Amino acid sequence: MAKYEIIGGKTLNGSVTISGAKNAAVAILPAAILVAGKCRIENVPDISDVRILLDILRDMGAEICQPEVGVVEIDSSNVKSTHPNPELVRKMRASYYLMGSLLSRFGQANVALPGGCNFASRPIDQHIKGFIALGADVEETDDYVNLKPGAEGLHGNRVSLDVVSVGATMNIIMASCLLPGQTVIENAAKEPHIVDLANFLNTMGANISGAGTDTVKVRGVEKLQGGTYAIIPDQIEAGTYLAAVAAAGGNVLVQNVIPKHMECITSKLQEMGAKIYNYDDSIRIVSEGRLRGTTVKTRPYPGFPTDMQAQICVCMTLADGISRLTESVYETRFFGYCTELTSMGADILINGKTAIVSGREKLRGNTVRARDLRAGAALVIAGLAAESTTYVENINYIERGYERIVEKLTALGAQIRRVED
Ligand code: UD1
Repeated sequence: MAKYEIIGGKTLNGSVTISGAKNAAVAILPAAILVAGKCRIENVPDISDVRILLDILRDMGAEICQPEVGVVEIDSSNVKSTHPNPELVRKMRASYYLMGSLLSRFGQANVALPGGCNFASRPIDQHIKGFIALGADVEETDDYVNLKPGAEGLHGNRVSLDVVSVGATMNIIMASCLLPGQTVIENAAKEPHIVDLANFLNTMGANISGAGTDTVKVRGVEKLQGGTYAIIPDQIEAGTYLAAVAAAGGNVLVQNVIPKHMECITSKLQEMGAKIYNYDDSIRIVSEGRLRGTTVKTRPYPGFPTDMQAQICVCMTLADGISRLTESVYETRFFGYCTELTSMGADILINGKTAIVSGREKLRGNTVRARDLRAGAALVIAGLAAESTTYVENINYIERGYERIVEKLTALGAQIRRVED
């Protein structure tokens, strides 16, 4: 099994270009099933989750070509199957979007329950609640979700989510796109990738309004036609590089970002003592000397993202004073990496939903194991900031969501390489 070898203690300098957003790409690619015609999708990250999704779509009969780096052309006209390959579906979390897109286009779907990063119990009851409100009959087994039209057929409806769910919001948007009537999603999530999905679908002819607010309206249309769309930059990848520079020190221009999407993260790094300079589509971070402890609570957008919890925690382990980090989306997320950080010398006490982090002078290298995507990214940051050598194992998790991470960090002066056992 491959692992990363990181010789820590080097500052990071230069510039890094952020890839297209993973969580937008993994929704927009299955949404291409809704389109009768060719979609040209640009700024698609080359990560393993995207490669698996393309394999699923190809296997279902979609014609896919990748004419240049970062560009995927999908023509779903010949897709006939409503039963995507279960082995591939189980390899990733976002395959649940196939339920919404297949239901809308074909009126039925038979999709295996998703796999992916299981850092917490991740129910999909709100997705199912949405499909039922849209008139679907839902049969759930331990392994599968089977959707077909109920007695009154599929139709738009009002859906009020009981929890703010990114996945349910996007799945219900997809499911309602081609249904007769209007769907109103209340208590919707507001993450940038929800706006991106809506913009993609609207570019192809959908009628979606309110994405980015807590009420999203979808007026069903008869069909969507092909077109060209570019995915937004990845907020979390950008945040990860910013956190890496904050922890390891240095001066880096993070390019291809939407600074507005980054405010929830950059404001915390500033509070911790990093200097942040915002430009139109880039952010410079300068981190010299010690960071200061702070308080962070994760929340749905525009709050501090749960997907940045582990990375900011590494910054806290090296900050003067005591920091408090509270998780309010996925309570068990600390267990994915805190023990590993402790083995590198961090002082973290977990008390329910809150980690109390006492900053240390330094971290020391060790062999550590990624247990999910963002936990893995945090261990890479810890390795960059630590004294001596760190080995990060289970890097398949990291490569699910970070495009060319070794090359990008190496270009910034890090000593990191992928080694095979
Ligand atoms: C998405 C992101 C993930 C991120 C998470 C929160 C993708 C592919 N993944 O995951 O990286 O960490 O948003 O920002 O975009 N919940 C329910 N029932 C449901 C759905 C969710 O109870 O049917 C709960 C979850 O357990 C969690 C909260 O709602 O506590 C938010 O989950 P959700 O926003 O749905 O996360 P995902 O879409 O799975």
